[in-house]
Amino acid sequence: MQPDHQSTMKEQNSMLIGNPFPWYAQMRRESPVFYDAEQQSWMVFRYEDVKRVFADWQIFSSQIPHPPEQTDLTQSFIYTDPPKHQSLRSLVAKVFTARRVEELAPRITQITHELIDKVQGQNHIDFMHDLAIPLPVIVIAEILGVPVADRADFKHWSDGIVVSDPAALQAMADYFRHLLKQRRQHSGKDLISNLIAAHEAGETLTAPELIAFCIVLLVAGNETTTNLLGNAILCFNEYPEAFARLKRSPQLLPLAIEEVLRYRSSVQGMERFTKVETQLGGQMIPSGQMVLAWTGAANRDETQFDRPDEFVIDRDPNPHLSFGNGIHFCLGAPLARLEGKIMLSAVLERLPNLRVDPNAALEFIPSMAIHGVKSLPVLL
Ligand code: HEM
Repeated sequence: MQPDHQSTMKEQNSMLIGNPFPWYAQMRRESPVFYDAEQQSWMVFRYEDVKRVFADWQIFSSQIPHPPEQTDLTQSFIYTDPPKHQSLRSLVAKVFTARRVEELAPRITQITHELIDKVQGQNHIDFMHDLAIPLPVIVIAEILGVPVADRADFKHWSDGIVVSDPAALQAMADYFRHLLKQRRQHSGKDLISNLIAAHEAGETLTAPELIAFCIVLLVAGNETTTNLLGNAILCFNEYPEAFARLKRSPQLLPLAIEEVLRYRSSVQGMERFTKVETQLGGQMIPSGQMVLAWTGAANRDETQFDRPDEFVIDRDPNPHLSFGNGIHFCLGAPLARLEGKIMLSAVLERLPNLRVDPNAALEFIPSMAIHGVKSLPVLL
């Protein structure tokens, strides 16, 4: 326990919401692993330590002790350890391989251009509302096989879920319970129908797990990629020379996307729970403790990255931890990268003068773990 740093953390929580970056360096240097009494968790900031927390699942478990209810997110494979994790993940893994995802490129391109058609000719749009929010939600809704027409509800519930609103979680669970009932009678070729078939074939998938699958895929496919797109525009705005270079050399886009993921990661931190006492960063962490691994801080660790606080558009290699590491490595990474590439290359091509409205007051999402803006007024 380090009282000084507890108060630092408390004071800086307000900064963490929205802009955590200025104080990450200080934490890595002075308190790379420390216990925050208010959060009742161990905070981990250095690259090597964060990487180990993700990799070492035998010590740092993803399973939440004493989950609150049955139909909640803790039933999802994101919150399970092997062997259960592997058996659940394998039920959906084949849908999200790079090859399968690449087959979605024509449809993602079509949706992207339809969204841009709607805004072309306008001077002023909200990049989040008009482009960054709809693309990922339409794509994941189509993969899952849920009505795209309900997407305003999904967005509303996912926004609630990322700030831990139990009513939003309940509403989404009720929605899926109802939808699964319907889909059992009329199955299709979508992912939900496949999961129902797996459930009915007795493949270790319980009814609450089925609902949690749908919720996690919808929320994970929504908030994170939306913020990747919005954060890309924030990076380009902060580094206009880099943006100009990208317009001249669009082949840099894949590297630029990795750098956006590193520099302004949509996910800033993930939690784990110690199964046994363990040593990390010179501290002894008892068994049964919550550990928060700050990927956002790891991504700016000077021992790993040159000029870590600079957006370097062609940084290569770029071993950021924004998609995690180890067995829980983001299942949707190929999809997020593809959606990012298609939307941003369409922006470079069709909206080349896009810039953040200098008069806009940007408001960040009120979450410690998710980094992005609520709305992003841009001029075209
Ligand atoms: C920029 C976009 C994205 C970011 C930054 C991101 C980040 C992450 C991270 C950090 C994890 C690791 C969680 C952990 O270790 O506990 C993760 C896991 C996961 N992500 Fe993503 N994600 C993104 C997009 C997506 C998309 C589009 C999907 C959807 C389909 C998705 C589905 C998942 C799933 C299902 C897991 C759990 C994997 C497991 O536990 O084995 N993600 N993601």
